[in-house]
Amino acid sequence: MEERKTLYSAIQPTNNLTIGNLIGAIKNWLNLQNDYDCYFAIANMHAITVRQVPAELRQKTLSMLALYLACGIDPEKCVLYVQSHVPAHAELCWVLNTFTYVGEMERMTQFKDKSLRHAENINMGLMDYPVLMAADILLYQTDVVPVGLDQRQHVEIARDVAQRFNNAFTPTFKVPEALYMKVGAKINDLQDPSKKMSKSAENPNGSIFLTDDRDTVIRKFKRAVTDSGSEIKYDPENKAGVSNLLSIYSAFTGKSVLEAEADFAGKGYGDFKLAVGEAVADRLTPIQNEQSKLLADKAYLEGVLRSGAERAAKTANKTLAKVYKKIGFYQL
Ligand code: TRP
Repeated sequence: MEERKTLYSAIQPTNNLTIGNLIGAIKNWLNLQNDYDCYFAIANMHAITVRQVPAELRQKTLSMLALYLACGIDPEKCVLYVQSHVPAHAELCWVLNTFTYVGEMERMTQFKDKSLRHAENINMGLMDYPVLMAADILLYQTDVVPVGLDQRQHVEIARDVAQRFNNAFTPTFKVPEALYMKVGAKINDLQDPSKKMSKSAENPNGSIFLTDDRDTVIRKFKRAVTDSGSEIKYDPENKAGVSNLLSIYSAFTGKSVLEAEADFAGKGYGDFKLAVGEAVADRLTPIQNEQSKLLADKAYLEGVLRSGAERAAKTANKTLAKVYKKIGFYQL
């Protein structure tokens, strides 16, 4: 039997996820778990590179786990765990720090951006973020890392550091490849359809969060900006608002954009926006119900995390032991 490739991905538990994440990242993970040996981590160690409220960080860790399970991530099929539960991440990060140059880290786009946004707290962790990410990936002898554009540079660094270490000693790490995912439908802001829907939009009415209840979802869609004219037609150049709503409707109903247009031929914007809101709410409600049910069963969630951490640590510790041996750490 052909051996399955290993895939690694992680997400920070601080993100307030939107329907864009559901259609993008989460949907991708669901497909990937069938084709790869997947490690999915909740990256709480990355999260603290910007200040967090401790109680919220703790709570979001569990609610993110519950969300993934509610969406259909199967803890039997993949290793689902919390980064800080596997000490090897911090340990390998330290070693890799000695194979990473300060200049490289200073040139990272995300570091430069975040330094501007968090000028009061440009801490070493923020700068070291890509090295911790390299440790995440390399510990599992990862073949592929599915990434969006914003993480591309970080995967490059992981490759460089892996090669540097391998060249300094003997092959130790698999050199990972970035897997650029088809992003599915691109979902834009409901209030400003020229922008991507984001977790931190200025106007909260522009984003649908996975935590929004039915009434909120429908209210936000009713307020979505449309365009002049009255035709419900996919034309992103001239009808950015209507086109965005059609994409969302199509992503949430599985219909093509053409079929979606046909559904609304002759209808007005009001009916259209309500129908899109209902289609989204119909998908979110069962996920939210399942998430609440899971959150009420802390013992089950902790069981998933315990087993995930154990399985992750087993692989991670093997890699770490090799690394310690090669760099000359005296072993007992
Ligand atoms: N930095 C990633 C993000 O914010 C999360 C992350 C941490 C990650 N470690 C990783 C992603 C390893 C891929 C592989 O999106």
